[in-house]
Amino acid sequence: MLKISNLSVSVENKLIINNLDLEIDEGKKVAVMGPNGSGKSTLSNVISGKPGYDIKEGSIEFEDTDILKVDPEERATMGIFMAFQYPVEIPGIANSSFLRTAINSIRKKNNIDPVNTRIFLEEINQIASKLGLDKSFLSRDMNAGFSGGEKKKNEILQLLLLKPKLCVLDEIDSGLDIDSLKVISKGISEYSNKKNSMLIITHYQRLLDHVIPDEVHIFNNGKIVESGDHNLVKILEEKGYKEFS
Ligand SMILES: Nc1ncnc2c1ncn2[C@@H]1O[C@H](COP(=O)(O)OP(=O)(O)O)[C@@H](O)[C@H]1O
Ligand SMILES: [Mg+2]
Repeated sequence: MLKISNLSVSVENKLIINNLDLEIDEGKKVAVMGPNGSGKSTLSNVISGKPGYDIKEGSIEFEDTDILKVDPEERATMGIFMAFQYPVEIPGIANSSFLRTAINSIRKKNNIDPVNTRIFLEEINQIASKLGLDKSFLSRDMNAGFSGGEKKKNEILQLLLLKPKLCVLDEIDSGLDIDSLKVISKGISEYSNKKNSMLIITHYQRLLDHVIPDEVHIFNNGKIVESGDHNLVKILEEKGYKEFS
C-alpha cells in the first residue's frame, strides 16, 4: 500500500530523513519507534503532505501513485489519514462542521452525494460515545480548550468517521491516561482490517500491547536501524534506544 524508497528530506538545510526505505503492505500494522528528534513526525508530515520540507531524493508511492507530486488535500481523499502528535485548535469552526466538510470532500472525490444529515449525526454520536467523548465535543469548536487526551480521542473520532486506507498515527498515545489509552487502542484495533494499513509511531510498549504490530522498526537519525516483530518492543524497553544507533 505504501512504498517509501530512498527518501531523504531536509529542513532548514538539516538532513532529517536519511535514505529511508519502508514498505507497508495492505492489512499490516507497522510500528516505528525512535528517540526524540529522530525524524518520526517529519516522516508522518512528509507522507501526509505538509509543506515546508525539502525532499532531496527518493519517492513515496501510495497504491502505485507517486504522492510526492500530489497535494495534501488530494492525498486525504485518496485515503491517507494522519493523526497529529499535537492536534491543532481551530477556534470558530465547530468540530461537527469540520468532520462533515471532511467526509463530504472525500465523498465528492469519489462521486458520492453529500452525507445525509441524520445518518451523519447518528454516526458521529455513536463514535463519540464509543470513545467516551460527550456529545458536547461535537458542537464545540474544533479542539479548542480540549484536554490533551480529548484532542487525541478527537483524532481517532476523525479516523473512525473517515475510514482511511492508510492511518498514520503520530504518538496517538502520548498524554493519555490508562483508561483513555484502552479506549483509543480498542478503536484502532477494531478499525484495523485486511484492507487498511497502519503506521503507528510511538515511544511506548503500552499501546503496542493493545494494538499488536506485525512489524516493528527502530528509527534513529532519520533511518531504520533495526527491524523485527513484536518482541523487539520488549527488547527496546529493556535496553533503551542507546543500543540501537
Ligand atoms: N520546521 C523545522 N525547522 C527546523 N528544524 C526542524 C523542523 N522540523 C523538524 N525539525 C528538526 O528535525 C528533527 C526531527 O524532528 P521530528 O521529526 O519532530 O522528530 P520526532 O518526531 O522523532 O521527535 C528535530 O531535530 C527537529 O528539531
Ligand atoms: Mg514527533
